[in-house]
Amino acid sequence: MDRVIIFDTTLRDGEQSPGINLNVKEKLEIAEQLARLGVDIIEAGFPQTSVGDFEAVKAISESIKGPGIAALARAHEMDIDRAWEAIKDAAKPRIHVFLSTSDIHRKYMLNATEDEIVQQAVEGVRRAKRYCDDVEFSPQDATRTEPEFLVRICDAVVEAGATTVNIPDTVGYAIPYDFGALIKELFEHAPRLGDVTVSVHCHNDLGLAVSNSLEAVRNGARQVEVAVNGIGERAGNCSLEEVVMALKMRRDLLGLDIDVNTREIARTSRLVTLLTGYQVQRNKAIVGENAFAHESGIHQHGVLQDRLTYEIIKAEDIGVEGGKIVLGKHSGRHAFAKTLEELGFQLGKEELNRSFTRFKELVDRKIQITDKDLEAIIADEIQAVEEVYKLESLQVAGGTHLAPTATVRITADGQSVTESAMGDGMVDAVYGAIMRATGVTGQLASFNIAAVTGGAEALGDVSVQLEIDGERYTGRGLATDIVEASARAFLNALNRAARRSQRAERPAEPTP
Ligand code: KIV
Ligand code: ZN
Repeated sequence: MDRVIIFDTTLRDGEQSPGINLNVKEKLEIAEQLARLGVDIIEAGFPQTSVGDFEAVKAISESIKGPGIAALARAHEMDIDRAWEAIKDAAKPRIHVFLSTSDIHRKYMLNATEDEIVQQAVEGVRRAKRYCDDVEFSPQDATRTEPEFLVRICDAVVEAGATTVNIPDTVGYAIPYDFGALIKELFEHAPRLGDVTVSVHCHNDLGLAVSNSLEAVRNGARQVEVAVNGIGERAGNCSLEEVVMALKMRRDLLGLDIDVNTREIARTSRLVTLLTGYQVQRNKAIVGENAFAHESGIHQHGVLQDRLTYEIIKAEDIGVEGGKIVLGKHSGRHAFAKTLEELGFQLGKEELNRSFTRFKELVDRKIQITDKDLEAIIADEIQAVEEVYKLESLQVAGGTHLAPTATVRITADGQSVTESAMGDGMVDAVYGAIMRATGVTGQLASFNIAAVTGGAEALGDVSVQLEIDGERYTGRGLATDIVEASARAFLNALNRAARRSQRAERPAEPTP
């Protein structure tokens, strides 16, 4: 069978998006969902960059069955040793070693000659190979590297034992026909590449990551590196859902198999959105809210006659039928636990108790609870556990002729603090009061509000990005009242900032 390996880097490159700081629990939850989706390899993190990343990669390696687990490492001994330490308990571990190769990176980032770089890459691969059979090597900024040098380094790392050679378009500079030609040329001139898997890792700076990946596959690449919802550095990575559906829908042209359960795509996308706070644009291919909506009368007429007139993908094939009513006012703990199990969530006793309490509060205000509501509650629960600041109560007043004011009661370190503030609007007043109560000043960089489901009593889902001491933190809050959801989102971001400084989790080294 000729098939394309799906290597997911949502938890590594995706997590490098500004403002995303997933904790171990959140990463585990996403990894479990990626396993359900059936990706071949999960790149779980870059263990050398922080204690948090190391712990997350370790936890994922110990508990996720099915996909291989990769850890990223620079071509340095300490990175490689640390990567191995984190993944050694995985059933299928992989060390992913990278080193920049382009002229500009050689000059400004490494200050090294071509010979020195080849030597470092080879030594890095050899060291990784001492631990693990499965070793991937990436010549960073490959698309701006002189092709002759790229050929030389590719051959050298295969000789040293690399089993996958990844060609990253690190800065999203490639154009499809050109990138396809590069892959072809590498196969022609670096004969050892024929013995290993050639992979591609495309960034989306020109909006071409998916096209470039497909063109590479057409020219012999058999692994694509992707991220859910296309998140990642700058404009992001090749979107998992888009490349997977393109390979599936146009198998007639490409003739390649994939092993992904596409029915889990919508849910995976929702979970990543909920936990990262990165919203998907409405018209995004495959997972955007409008991807299966038909607005024009002519289109609607066509679809009513025969769906295929204007739709190429069946919504069910990516699991879009979410929004089913799953529980109601009379559902008890047993039904609640069973439904969560059916949705694939495995909660500990305490989490289950807390989630059940949230569910009961919600069902008092919202009669019918859908699977999307439950996903949102669970995501909120996963995010809420390590609270430094806790919202005790909130009171707001305002109107067209009344200056907005807010009073909040927050507990921090067991102390209860009450503060009030006025603002331009209710949410602004709440944020002012929270900053007074916590003593932390955050600059609101973005504010997003969405309804989890339709209807007047829908859960409001607010995500914010706060800038605190020059760093960005994402926060998310969920409540039937949008002012309360906004307060919870703000506090969630403050809690992330507090947790990070408590654990001194800042990256020790710049990330790739
Ligand atoms: O974009 C890039 O070059 C990377 C490598 C580490 C593969 O993320
Ligand atoms: Zn990258």
